[in-house]
Amino acid sequence: MSSSQSSENDVMTPDIREIASDLRNSKGHGFLCFEHDGLYLFIPPPAMLKGGHPADKVKSIREAELKDDDIIICAYPKCGTHWLWEIMEMLISGTIKYQKDVKETRMMEFIFKDGIEAVPSPRVFNTHLPLRMLPRQVVEKKIKCFHIMRNPKDACVSFFNHLRDMEKPYNYEGDFVEFTEAFLSEKMPFGSYSNYLLAWQKETAAAPDLPVLNLFYEDMKIHPVKCVKDVSRFLGLSSTDQFCEDVANACSFKKMKKVDQEMKTKPDMKIWQDGTEGTFYRKGEIGDWKNWFTVAESERFDHIWNKKMKDSGFEFTYAPA
Ligand code: A3P
Repeated sequence: MSSSQSSENDVMTPDIREIASDLRNSKGHGFLCFEHDGLYLFIPPPAMLKGGHPADKVKSIREAELKDDDIIICAYPKCGTHWLWEIMEMLISGTIKYQKDVKETRMMEFIFKDGIEAVPSPRVFNTHLPLRMLPRQVVEKKIKCFHIMRNPKDACVSFFNHLRDMEKPYNYEGDFVEFTEAFLSEKMPFGSYSNYLLAWQKETAAAPDLPVLNLFYEDMKIHPVKCVKDVSRFLGLSSTDQFCEDVANACSFKKMKKVDQEMKTKPDMKIWQDGTEGTFYRKGEIGDWKNWFTVAESERFDHIWNKKMKDSGFEFTYAPA
């Protein structure tokens, strides 16, 4: 993902090609991933692997030493992790001060065991990995976890835009209709959203003492101050109502987008392709999916999603209040 690693061959060295799963469709659109423990993941660029094997790097996360007061945000991609991370950083620091670092510097599957252990306290990690791949100590030490969810159609649109603009060879070249097929299948980095949710449900049920706060992107949009208060309470903080209101305001979409453009330290790796609008702060709305799905595509999506998720109990908000 750095500027000097923008072609497939830079990432797909001969030894990596041997273990790669080709998830491209008949039109050649899709992803080259590796599989680990039933999940497809992007093959990290050589600069991140530092000579290591992708699966070993991910496995190393299981052994990472955690601190009792560590916190983890868990989410499928594009469900609002950046937003929640910034809110938490402010609540914990007790100041309306934006983190200069980008949240990717605290992303478990980017920094692996050594990187996780090197982050200074207080530490708010984030990840798109399922619970079974997180450090064993998450469950052992009852680390506070925040699980943020978003309606699958908006998550799909957001992921499409993200992957379309990403630096080669991680970018998606197909159209939106093709992408929804991949999104509803497992042929995606991080697998399908439905499987992520079902795995999350099953794996947290098997760890009943794990403290988890479930949050929804749509609730945060509709009731931002209430959600900030819920997060503060779950963290065991005694933030005042005024402070929670200030945090919610400082973390509005508009303000965070501006801060991202103006003051965040740029990450080491190049994430977006030149000439694209690539950003983690695209639209920030509930219901943008209506601009992307035809009625027929939307019905087809619902049909497949509902079949997979029936009996799961997950309910989502698809339109602003
Ligand atoms: P859109 O692509 O629909 O705009 P993540 O942080 O997990 O990658 O999620 C990114 C999504 O959250 C993007 O959705 C982004 O615009 C949205 N987002 C980021 N910050 C936000 C904020 N402060 N308020 C509302 N939405 C936000």
